[in-house]
Amino acid sequence: MKIYAHRGCSGAYPENTLAAFRAAAELPITGVEIDVHLTKDGEIVVIHDEKVNRTTNGKGYVKELTLKELKELDCGSWRSEEWSQEKIPTLDEVFDVFEETNHRLNIELKSDVFPYDGLVDKVIDLAAERGFMDRVLISSFNHEDIQSVVQGKKVENAILTFEVLVDVYDYARVIGTKRIHVSLPSAFRRMTTDALRKGAIIYVYTVNDVNYAEELQKIGIHGIFTDHPEKMLAHFG
Ligand code: G3P
Ligand code: MG
Repeated sequence: MKIYAHRGCSGAYPENTLAAFRAAAELPITGVEIDVHLTKDGEIVVIHDEKVNRTTNGKGYVKELTLKELKELDCGSWRSEEWSQEKIPTLDEVFDVFEETNHRLNIELKSDVFPYDGLVDKVIDLAAERGFMDRVLISSFNHEDIQSVVQGKKVENAILTFEVLVDVYDYARVIGTKRIHVSLPSAFRRMTTDALRKGAIIYVYTVNDVNYAEELQKIGIHGIFTDHPEKMLAHFG
């Protein structure tokens, strides 16, 4: 079962920071999961929420702030003073961290609330320019964007789901993908076991308990997103 560091090593470090990604780059795991938005001036930045309020000392929507304004914010102190120098990374800066490693990068397009114009093309173009096309897996709760990914240049893609759905594999096939990233509460439901039987590739978020991870492995889940990859590695070896 593949292990992805969710928002970097977000259990031990502030989520979606270079510190969290550098820690993940040191681990023998499959990859990292990264959340991306577009700034007011069209730059790809790595942060989870639509607003900066929860994880920085600033306020407001990412889409209403320029990259320069976002770079003035501290996105580490909310976890500990130790991280007060952390700045919101650009996707380009995260590519730098993994330039010399073999990790895969699951880039989650956070366009499920605001449909960022041009985000799909910008992410794929940057991945191509940086030589990451064969290491990138693009996912989103915005399935219209995943359909655009499917119809564009060749890059791995997945739909994200939250609720328990019916016939989700058939739905994914309509979009054009076989990869489905499901929430932990739906992972043990018929939705997931049916999809696995039909040939889906299923990853589950967010799995921080090794007992759940063991159960997921038993039913044939292909990968997990965890805030504690070091703990999963210690358990699974
Ligand atoms: O990509 C898996 C997971 O990150 C989706 O949910 O809210 O943690 O971005 P969220
Ligand atoms: Mg995410």
